[in-house]
Amino acid sequence: MDWGMRNRLSRMFRPSSGNSVMLAVDHGYFMGPTRRLEDAGATIRPLLPYADALALTRGVLRTSVPPEASTPIVLRVSGGATVLQEDLSNEAVTTAIADAARLNVSAVALSVFVGAPHEHQSLVNLSKLVDDGEAAGIPVLAITAVGKELEKRDARYLALACRVSAEIGAHVVKTYYCDGFSKVVEGCPVPLVVAGGPKLDSDRAALELAHGAIAEGAHGIDMGRNIWQSDHPVPMLKALRAIVHEKATVREAVDVLEGEKARPAAPDPAVSPA
Ligand code: 5RP
Repeated sequence: MDWGMRNRLSRMFRPSSGNSVMLAVDHGYFMGPTRRLEDAGATIRPLLPYADALALTRGVLRTSVPPEASTPIVLRVSGGATVLQEDLSNEAVTTAIADAARLNVSAVALSVFVGAPHEHQSLVNLSKLVDDGEAAGIPVLAITAVGKELEKRDARYLALACRVSAEIGAHVVKTYYCDGFSKVVEGCPVPLVVAGGPKLDSDRAALELAHGAIAEGAHGIDMGRNIWQSDHPVPMLKALRAIVHEKATVREAVDVLEGEKARPAAPDPAVSPA
């Protein structure tokens, strides 16, 4: 792996733990103005100091993230279907690697839809993106999408999708936590990060999900709704950091969450005086 590629990866995955807390705010690309992400900039600003990487589209990056920010960017470069369609798998690459390079991103991300009508197309999209990423020194994160078919969130299906993505050349794979997750990890030769999925019933449930994933071998999380749809997004992100980077137990992470909730909220970094 060339220096540029390794450098970009080491900016996203903290060398001290080997893990990453990625904040996902890319939902609008097919879901529109998702709840609590309507004003993306307002959602992102207070969370930015606590994210190891920010996952989003170029539209939200250019409009809603200050260019002075040093947080590594994972740029979503696939799209082309919305929640109005039954089949979400009909995606293409929507952003050229040259634009990703211009935006100085640390990685590009694209969905693969194994088992969906456009499986072939999404895997070919991945293979072309890996070729472009290798040429530019930009790592590729494959997102193993389960779309509306949540019943496919089982270890056998996810292991297949993750392994296929890694075989095609993805440098990092995002998937979902599931029963038997360690089997998904064992079968995937590149680092895995887990999404949170729709908002769970409690913050604790999301901390349990993250803890289970890290304990079974994930290299981090790429989580959205369970952070910014929480009533306490910054405390949640800090509690998740304790799990991902410091191997905190769920109990310890809940203590971080409760302690942070009790502190007065910090001023919004982008609007407060220096
Ligand atoms: C949207 C995505 C999200 O980035 C991914 O699902 C993580 O977000 P969440 O934790 O809310 O599921 O890929 O298409």
